[in-house]
Amino acid sequence: MSTHKIAVLAGDGIGPEVMKEARKVLDAIASKFQVSFEFDEQLVGGAGIDGAGKALPEATLKACEAADAILFGSVGGPKWENLPPNEQPERGALLPLRKHFGLFANLRPSVCFPSLTHASPVKNELIEGGFNVLCVRELTGGMYFGEPKFLGEKDGERTAIDTMIYRESEIERIAHVAFLAAQGRDKRVTSIDKANVLQNGILWRETVEKVAKGYPDVTLDHLYVDNAAMQLIRRPNDFDVVLAENLFGDILSDEMAMIAGSLGMLASASLGASKDGGLYFGMYEPSGGSAPDIAGQGIANPIAQILSTAMLLRYSLGLEEAATCIDDAVKAVIDEGLRTGDLFTGEEGTTKMNTTEMGDAIVAKI
Ligand code: IPM
Ligand code: MG
Repeated sequence: MSTHKIAVLAGDGIGPEVMKEARKVLDAIASKFQVSFEFDEQLVGGAGIDGAGKALPEATLKACEAADAILFGSVGGPKWENLPPNEQPERGALLPLRKHFGLFANLRPSVCFPSLTHASPVKNELIEGGFNVLCVRELTGGMYFGEPKFLGEKDGERTAIDTMIYRESEIERIAHVAFLAAQGRDKRVTSIDKANVLQNGILWRETVEKVAKGYPDVTLDHLYVDNAAMQLIRRPNDFDVVLAENLFGDILSDEMAMIAGSLGMLASASLGASKDGGLYFGMYEPSGGSAPDIAGQGIANPIAQILSTAMLLRYSLGLEEAATCIDDAVKAVIDEGLRTGDLFTGEEGTTKMNTTEMGDAIVAKI
């Protein structure tokens, strides 16, 4: 029996509560599919600051290095908001983890099941039959990490500098990820840029065009980022895979999450270079954040964490069957009308549950 090592970083807020349910799901998967998991639980974010003096303690980084994949909860909360920006949970842990492990490909599926379209603020006729778009965001380049970065006095006044920089190879590798993903979906890629203003946009568009030649079965179109923000709201169901650089992807993926309506359902994967067998080292986390307002009450939706776990099995461990089993179990409980508080409207045939009950229901389906 093969043993897979998973670094478990539950973090802050609802992180530990939803992580507990994901662990139950992994236990169920282990017995059903005859695999074994070894978990290494470590501090991160505010919990890292409180317990070990910083958001990303050395021991945590070491455990991640030794693991096959990282299962991440969420970080941040009011308690740590007054620290210097670079020491705060989000910047002090997330960005360094992405950079350290070269997690350049961020996959953010925005999915709204047909029975949950009421949760979306978008007119329901626009997302009839559900909403299903995959955002492929470049995660280690662009303005987030470009040098020089500066905040200080220049020519007699306070000045800030961030640098947007992309090399062709960085654009090529993320474009491949988008086209490969599209081949397994509806075979359409919409590439986002600002080629009417930015040099970066010109290189982005030309490079994506070049990569597209290797995927003649996938349709490619381009949108300027401002127009894309508009078209996503106007005709959400026309999109399949949206490919964007780091900052544009950050912004548009929040828009897509909102269209899907239920942040508590959205998983994500941040992947590094592909290893043998097409597997990636990766970090897997819910898109929703630490939700300090409901933390500790046992009412958070664990589905985003559980679906992130499915992505981990699929991309980093090659356990496609097990991953699909989790996806199907989640679909089944939603179809049966089981809802955590974020999605419960009192609609006939639905049942309200807390975090643990939802986890148990999903485990029962597995
Ligand atoms: C995200 C977040 C992060 C980002 C922040 C917390 C640094 O917004 O993962 O989308 O900007 O990438
Ligand atoms: Mg963001």
